[in-house]
Amino acid sequence: MRLVIIGFGTVGTGLAALLRDRAAYLAGRYDFTPQIVGVATRSRGTLYAPDGLDIDALLAAHQGGSLRDYQGAASRDLDPLRLVGEAEADVVIEASHSNFDTAQPALDHCRAALRTGKHLVLANKGPVALALTELHNLARENGRQVRYEATVMAGTPALRLAEVGLAGCTISAARGILNGTTNYILEQMTGGLAYADALADAQRLGYAEADPAADVEGWDAAGKAIILARTLFDVPLTLADLQVKGIIAITPADIEAAAAAGERWKLIAEVSPSGGSVMPVRLPLADPLANVGGAINAITYRTDLMADVTLIGPGAGQVPTAAGLLSDMLSLLQS
Ligand SMILES: NC(=O)c1ccc[n+]([C@@H]2O[C@H](COP(=O)([O-])OP(=O)(O)OC[C@H]3O[C@@H](n4cnc5c(N)ncnc54)[C@H](OP(=O)(O)O)[C@@H]3O)[C@@H](O)[C@H]2O)c1
Repeated sequence: MRLVIIGFGTVGTGLAALLRDRAAYLAGRYDFTPQIVGVATRSRGTLYAPDGLDIDALLAAHQGGSLRDYQGAASRDLDPLRLVGEAEADVVIEASHSNFDTAQPALDHCRAALRTGKHLVLANKGPVALALTELHNLARENGRQVRYEATVMAGTPALRLAEVGLAGCTISAARGILNGTTNYILEQMTGGLAYADALADAQRLGYAEADPAADVEGWDAAGKAIILARTLFDVPLTLADLQVKGIIAITPADIEAAAAAGERWKLIAEVSPSGGSVMPVRLPLADPLANVGGAINAITYRTDLMADVTLIGPGAGQVPTAAGLLSDMLSLLQS
């Protein structure tokens, strides 16, 4: 499986390191011998080597600040879009920035990948949230597939549980904690910290961005809710269709009132065939989601045959997200 990786930051480099470190296991267990033939960034250059890039040299060049310093034979003059279109490759991995306004430029990378006969695997949520139907249609026309497990709860198999594990059940709703940063902040507030101190703590630990708006205002969770609605119910929601409220307005008094009633605040994303929302909700402690702590994510599927099924696990991070991409590649291999 020859891979082109678009976006070589936390996730892209994590995937490269994972493929290097697990090479023997993947070959032995799955007969899977992936080869990275192309890598693109926005500002650190691109590389293309049809016979494969050396992962140690690739990571060393990236760590030095520029892929142009890669020690080995490779073309260095392609822009990301040309790389996707012209590379001889089997799979394009989209791991550049998520853009929920236009999904660009990643959406063009995705179109080019499918039109030139490559499978598409995404960590980037933008094209999945905004254009999944188009991508599925393009994939079908070109006899290829689109996978995006890593976009919701990283490598914790939220989508595969619904699509494969619960096959045969009707899912009537999904409710989840889909943003680890806000879950961490709410937990710290439950422990007595003020919102600003809990946010600063999350930033110090690397959970929250310097600009935390997408997390604390609920938009990151909303993007994932859109992906879930489309995947579970084939409902094409947009961000404007969702009721979205973040955690900024929650006060220590709110936290105390919930605790006194035996409840806990959680930022809950909910989708059903009739729509969706992202809202802070007071949950009773008996609800499995109420007991999900730290930066962990969780999702409860309401099903007809199994009642509620809850999955808990990491929802972000370099290795868990790379693991989600790897699971999609293995699933492509097996199909
Ligand atoms: N990190 C996580 O835990 C996680 C979890 C699930 C999903 N995701 C998604 O995975 C994607 C990657 O996340 P990340 O944490 O790895 O981000 P990151 O560390 O900021 O890396 C992003 C990479 O994309 C590159 N890039 C940006 N625009 C590009 C363009 N137009 N063409 C080619 N490359 C471009 C950047 O290039 P430069 O190096 O030149 O800036 C950088 O290499 C995002 O869409 C994110 O939402 C991340």
